[in-house]
Amino acid sequence: MTVTPSNPLRDPQDRRLPRIADPCALVIFGVTGDLAQKKLIPAVYDLANRGMLPAAFTVLGFARRDWGHGDFEELARQAAKTHARTPWRQEVWNRLADTFTFVPGSFDDDEAFDNLASTLEELRHTHAIGGNAAFYFSIPPSAFPTVLRQLDRTGAAHNTSAGGWRRVVVEKPFGHDLESAKKLDNLVDSVFTAEGVFRIDHYLGKETVQNILALRFANALFEPVWNSHYVDSVQITMAEDAGIGSRAGFYDSAGAARDVLQNHLLQLLALTAMEEPVGLNAEEIRTEKLKVLRAITLPKDLETYAVRGQYSDGWIAGNPVRSYLDEDNVAPGSTTETYVAVQLGVQNRRWADVPFYLRAGKRLPRRVTEIAIVFKRAPHLPFHDYDVETLGQNQLVIRVQPDEGVTVKFGSKVPGTGMELRDISMDFHYGEAFTESSPEAYERLIRDVLLGDKTLFPDAAEVEASWAVIDPLEEFWANHKPSQYRAGSWGPEAANTMMSRHGRTWRRA
Ligand code: BG6
Repeated sequence: MTVTPSNPLRDPQDRRLPRIADPCALVIFGVTGDLAQKKLIPAVYDLANRGMLPAAFTVLGFARRDWGHGDFEELARQAAKTHARTPWRQEVWNRLADTFTFVPGSFDDDEAFDNLASTLEELRHTHAIGGNAAFYFSIPPSAFPTVLRQLDRTGAAHNTSAGGWRRVVVEKPFGHDLESAKKLDNLVDSVFTAEGVFRIDHYLGKETVQNILALRFANALFEPVWNSHYVDSVQITMAEDAGIGSRAGFYDSAGAARDVLQNHLLQLLALTAMEEPVGLNAEEIRTEKLKVLRAITLPKDLETYAVRGQYSDGWIAGNPVRSYLDEDNVAPGSTTETYVAVQLGVQNRRWADVPFYLRAGKRLPRRVTEIAIVFKRAPHLPFHDYDVETLGQNQLVIRVQPDEGVTVKFGSKVPGTGMELRDISMDFHYGEAFTESSPEAYERLIRDVLLGDKTLFPDAAEVEASWAVIDPLEEFWANHKPSQYRAGSWGPEAANTMMSRHGRTWRRA
């Protein structure tokens, strides 16, 4: 056992006791935006509530508002009270809110960034944060270059005199296509050191997503059948009942493929298909994921095997909802897709000829994300045909959300004198199996940023390999209008046709 000099009883590899980050500042750009309000500030509060933040810690908000500390605190309090996962404790909030600082300004305002840099310098003395700061870009991708240049110009991105670290957290999508992602990479790398860049994909922070590695590599049960000898196909579904809300500004220029396929869904695919890593550290896991991402192939016939759709009006949970084109701030006649379904291949020995079906959509009947491994039929069934009429294929379903867990579906004898067989399910529910509730993805990831742990963050090569999958699709779709699907349905008919060509159907998620 290796031991730390400071605590001879503690193995530094032992993650059971929480590690606490160095004293530091978390600077949030776009602090008044949706993501900061619904996810980031609540996650910081939850971390404070769980005692996971360093004693010397401060949150610095930056946004275009003529605000003082009180206004910022009030907005943040509302956000935390409404969206935090853990119970409200006023004394925790008071302590956290005491560390808040607000810097008003727009991204092209030099003076505001000079002010930000000097405020950080002051906080180093007043809040003993050392030279440590993480900059969180919760802002439109188009603003990344300006903010990066400002942080470079003012020196805020460089820990010149103080020592310590500077980190930057960049929200997805990282770039708009392969070329812009490379440009952004160059820019980020010219301002921050490679260890300081955290590209965030919040799906990797989800407990159920991390459990894919545990399920696959901690058990003897699944790995032997996790290959093309036994697996017929893999279906990855990310369905949302919500529409685009107030995000047209971003969404209308992105669409479902750039918003979630390029990142969340391809990452789920990579974790599902990768080989066992040599170790569970950032580098080894990325090495294996990258091999999968680079082995992904698109179907030749994109017309049939790459489907995109846009929702028309319809009904969700008994309530009427408007069409995408009628949403606020969507460009008239927009051809942006809100649904995407595609058949991909992974060209390696393990997965040759196994289709990976990925689909994601807004305004589908309900919110559900899952990965279904669909197995081949048993090679021989020693039963009468009529006894196995309703017997389906075995499935292993990783339920990412909202009902987190795993389902195994297999055939079983119906009680009685005959030998009729029917599908039944064995379920594992996180909520029932563990007393501890899962941290929110952003809680986990913000803590990892402060700790400097990059295991759950895709690196530049992964992001680029993912764009290499998406670019040809976008190019193809540039001349095709998306099909319409009714809000509240499971997407365009073409997505079902794509499956039925090979006698398959989408799993009823
Ligand atoms: C975000 C997308 O990354 O993920 C949103 O930009 C989507 O469009 C969201 O709604 C879904 O996240 P979750 O964690 O609720 O599945």
